[in-house]
Amino acid sequence: MQFSFHNPTQVQFGRGQIASIAQLVPRDAKVLVLYGGGSIKGNGVYDQVVAALKDHQWDEFSGIEPNPAVETLDRAVAKVKAEGFDFLLGVGGGSVIDGAKYVASAALYDGYGWDILAGKHKVTQALPLGAILTLPATGSESNPAAVVTRTATAEKRSFLSPAVYPRFAVLDPDAMASLPDRQLGNGLVDAFVHVCEQYLTIPTGAMVQEGYAESLLRTLVTLAGQFDQRRSPEWQENLMWAANQALNGLIGLGVPHDWATHAIGHEFTALYGLDHAQSLALVQPALLREQFAQKEPKLTQMGRNVFGLEGDNIAHRTIDIMENLYRSVGVGTRLHDYQLDRTDVQLHLVTAMEEHGLNRLGDQRNVDSQVVDAIIRRAE
Ligand code: NZQ
Ligand code: ZN
Repeated sequence: MQFSFHNPTQVQFGRGQIASIAQLVPRDAKVLVLYGGGSIKGNGVYDQVVAALKDHQWDEFSGIEPNPAVETLDRAVAKVKAEGFDFLLGVGGGSVIDGAKYVASAALYDGYGWDILAGKHKVTQALPLGAILTLPATGSESNPAAVVTRTATAEKRSFLSPAVYPRFAVLDPDAMASLPDRQLGNGLVDAFVHVCEQYLTIPTGAMVQEGYAESLLRTLVTLAGQFDQRRSPEWQENLMWAANQALNGLIGLGVPHDWATHAIGHEFTALYGLDHAQSLALVQPALLREQFAQKEPKLTQMGRNVFGLEGDNIAHRTIDIMENLYRSVGVGTRLHDYQLDRTDVQLHLVTAMEEHGLNRLGDQRNVDSQVVDAIIRRAE
């Protein structure tokens, strides 16, 4: 194990916490509030933000879409540059918060913002930002990552920079009351797969990271089993905190990571418009079956410690249980669930991955286009 860990995001968890941004946003800042398609106007979140910012100077930018487009975000960048905002507040799910991270970075860069996603510009400075989370799933509210799509070329890419950790993250489970079932299922699956990306690699002997990962997975399994109680405050609180902890950095310290499911999933979203979590549920069980030999030890450990399995064939049974878990919360795991044609996907997705240079994915760097092709066959 070797790592350096500093997560600077102040987390404000619980009912009524949106009001605390009155103190957390610097009083002399000129604030730009960023949000999505308007769900915050229907559930009281927007009104609470307006009330909390009553003594601040602020304006807003709306219309950040799911899987945020650089084309949209660049309009926000232009507004920030023209009007001199110096604090950004993202109010929404992962898309809005990722969008705010991009805007915060691109606003301090003179070149074309997409350079950040293309790896041509390394982000070392960004405007300060805060997050009010309305959809627990990505962990973006307290991590240094952002994912942005360029619609014109159907590319979905990510960047990481310590400069874009939000200064604070408000996690008020009341904001979840208006979430459709589809997004509750998505959030649970995304969080589950985030833990897997940092855990289902090889046995590491890192007891704290593996033990906490298993604890988070057991929590998510319990929440999936209680999906009929998904409207209860307790269920929603637990999902909100579990999804945050799944990707705030802790369980991934000093251990190998995989992320091949995410990389392939991003291509599915860019090409076919799948929700992020749908893309993961489609790819991950097929990937685990395709890479069974190298994943078997950790799958067996997971089967025992997370699902309580005993006896033979634990690793195979673990993959089946995972796939059923995703389906049980309403997230499809097969191409036909999304009306996708296998031959079409094989042609376009494999080509796109080759064009994007994605040919050494996974913790063993052995997921290339042939493996992706085999994964697509298995997802049929
Ligand atoms: O646009 P609004 O009106 O906000 O509606 C959103 C959107 O339509 C809606 N929603 C959010 N909160 C709601 C609500 N509807 C009713 N009530 C509420 N309280 O939900 C829809 C989806 O929102 P979105 O933000 O797109 O979902 P999610 O949080 O799943 O974010 C997905 C994005 O995050 C990226 C994904 O790739 C995708 O682009 N990810 C970011 C990561 C990170 N920064 O660390 C890691 C993840 O693996 C992921 O890649
Ligand atoms: Zn994810």
